[in-house]
Amino acid sequence: MGTLQLISPSLESTIQIGRILGKCLPAGTFVALDGILGAGKTQFVKGIACGLDEGGWAGLRSPTFTLMLSYHGGRCVLHHVDFYRLNESPELPGEILEAIESDRAITVVEWADIWREVWPEHYVHVSFEIEDDTNKRRITIEDPRGICPDLAKELDDYVIEPAGA
Ligand SMILES: Nc1ncnc2c1ncn2[C@@H]1O[C@H](COP(=O)(O)OP(=O)(O)OP(=O)(O)O)[C@@H](O)[C@H]1O
Ligand SMILES: [Mg+2]
Repeated sequence: MGTLQLISPSLESTIQIGRILGKCLPAGTFVALDGILGAGKTQFVKGIACGLDEGGWAGLRSPTFTLMLSYHGGRCVLHHVDFYRLNESPELPGEILEAIESDRAITVVEWADIWREVWPEHYVHVSFEIEDDTNKRRITIEDPRGICPDLAKELDDYVIEPAGA
């Protein structure tokens, strides 16, 4: 799969799209999230957590002040990281680099573009844009390595581009 453009009409839809992606993702995938403040990145991670473990998102918080939060209850470990606070850092903490390189965990990073040089080969990049209507989000999913080949079919209800994907 290459690139998909989706429209999420509501918060619930964004969580559902994250959940569908979470179900498709193999262990060892790095998921890079980008988009401005309030675009929906943390809500989307709730969906991913739910895709790994149906009840798993209940306690999910934003890692802005903790750098990394890890969840062990699902089909594989989920690490949730935010690069926003690491913007000025000369290097990333070792535990975060280990999480990114792990082939057993899924590591999801908000504000991932800040440290693009640490992205591993196997990544999925998801960007969020706020549409004029404040509850609508345009979500672009790039999967250059074809990690989730069935994603277009699974996300059919939300895909606008490529048409008929
Ligand atoms: N379609 C939608 N998808 C996602 N969030 C939505 C949507 N419509 C409204 N919202 C609201 O937008 C906000 C998204 O907040 P969230 O914390 O996920 O943003 P974020 O991208 O993680 O921001 P930050 O960069 O500050 O971490 C929430 O308050 C949510 O209720
Ligand atoms: Mg956030």
